[in-house]
Amino acid sequence: MPDDPRSGPSKPTRRAFLRTTGGTAAAVIAGCAPAHRDSAAGKTAVPAEIAEGPNIEGAVPITLRINGKDRQLRVDPRTTLLDCIRETVALTGTKKGCDHGQCGACTVHVNGRRVNSCLSLALMHDGEEITTIEGLGTPDALHPMQAAFVAFDGYQCGYCTSGQIMSGVALLKEPCGPEDAAVKELMSGNICRCGAYPNIVAAIQQVRKNA
Ligand code: FES
Repeated sequence: MPDDPRSGPSKPTRRAFLRTTGGTAAAVIAGCAPAHRDSAAGKTAVPAEIAEGPNIEGAVPITLRINGKDRQLRVDPRTTLLDCIRETVALTGTKKGCDHGQCGACTVHVNGRRVNSCLSLALMHDGEEITTIEGLGTPDALHPMQAAFVAFDGYQCGYCTSGQIMSGVALLKEPCGPEDAAVKELMSGNICRCGAYPNIVAAIQQVRKNA
């Protein structure tokens, strides 16, 4: 069978599938237009020669606005948002725990909403606003949620902490009942292997009270 995805809908080859997974299929799953060099979706076309990232065959130029700064990147279409943030942009505050959408360590904000970045492809977010833990506050001017985690000892080993804080900040804008049980429910996607849950809930409740 010819190795051409246009040759027919049945029995796509493995090679054809891999070639299109990062582009068309992923974009359809995300409900957005395909992102590639000649995209007519109105998104920024980044000249490949000025984009950051490995110059490998098939890499796609995209622009992510990360923590208020436009980053012109070149990524393999299969690169997750998490790996793009950590490996290409070198912002390592976002952690990789399970890499399967189960622990929440990789939580970032995309256009203000929390997302497990290990479950999302970077090119699906071309032109979008990404916020990581580095974009929340600074050591000298902590975000109120960061300050509350310190005050309430809401961390132990610290590995899950950035994801917990990003989820906690996003939760402030989500429908959530006033009781601790409601906070626990909305934070249930963020696992803390040290078991600092009571302190995490206390920190979030404190910020909600002062908001
Ligand atoms: S690393 Fe993404 S949910 Fe665990």
